[in-house]
Amino acid sequence: MFKISKGWNCVTYLGDNLLMAENPTSSGEIRTEAVERHYRMGEATICAVDGITLNVAAGAFVALLGSSGSGKSSLLNLIAGLDRPTAGAVIVDGRNLAGMTGEELSRYRRLRVGMVFQAFNLISSMTLLENVELPMRFAEVARGERTERARASLERVGLGGRLTHHPSQLSGGEQQRAAIARALANRPSLLLADEPTGNLDSHTGGEILDLLHESNRQFGMTVVMVTHEHALAEQYAQRLVFLSDGKVVAERQNVPRGSIPNSAGL
Ligand SMILES: Nc1ncnc2c1ncn2[C@@H]1O[C@H](COP(=O)(O)OP(=O)(O)OP(=O)(O)O)[C@@H](O)[C@H]1O
Ligand SMILES: [Mg+2]
Repeated sequence: MFKISKGWNCVTYLGDNLLMAENPTSSGEIRTEAVERHYRMGEATICAVDGITLNVAAGAFVALLGSSGSGKSSLLNLIAGLDRPTAGAVIVDGRNLAGMTGEELSRYRRLRVGMVFQAFNLISSMTLLENVELPMRFAEVARGERTERARASLERVGLGGRLTHHPSQLSGGEQQRAAIARALANRPSLLLADEPTGNLDSHTGGEILDLLHESNRQFGMTVVMVTHEHALAEQYAQRLVFLSDGKVVAERQNVPRGSIPNSAGL
């Protein structure tokens, strides 16, 4: 179990950019309205996301479940601003991502979104410290500050003793903890995780979800997690959303076992 300590609520300006955690108007509320993502493949159209309307309250922890191909990653990528909808809207804190210019969307991704993937996606030629610094480089955080924050972020996930290691010198669980440290480095208001425990044994997977849960509770960041693992979703998420063929087919509230629901409610 790795504890994340408090202390991220200081006011820090990045040039004229206010980071999400310090910006009271940036709370991390997500709404999708009849959102669609269709792929054309020759004559065929694949309806990966087929009219999903979903409200995720700021600070909520939501799990997206469904069989392979049901559209979970496609939906998460739309929320992350990595992809644009074919139709419908994705609205984060009142702003429709579909109406953003490319530059605004990349700024949104850089400053508001932290992403964690099944395959960790760390850069193998960089040390852990450099990996965690990377999003802050893109956000133009001053060098001294970003090194300090990257170090603190790695310490929070229990990797303070691995700063100069390269990803290949770490276990899978350690790599995923480093990926979480990187996702949290810019203090995003949304933490989006696509099968974050998919490559890990169940014990290590539980540790990773403890970290996501701590981030959700202590920093109030909204967490949307895709998972195949029903038991893990029930243990950590406040709400389970089931997808099938690009549609939401069921939803239910959940009282996470062994964890304290945050104050946001749903
Ligand atoms: N870039 C793409 N081009 C064409 N079809 C795609 C593309 N990305 C996804 N799809 C299709 O859209 C559907 C949904 O894919 P998606 O990756 O969202 O599923 P998923 O629920 O995340 O599945 P898994 O659990 O296997 O990761 C699938 O049928 C997939 O083949
Ligand atoms: Mg997927």
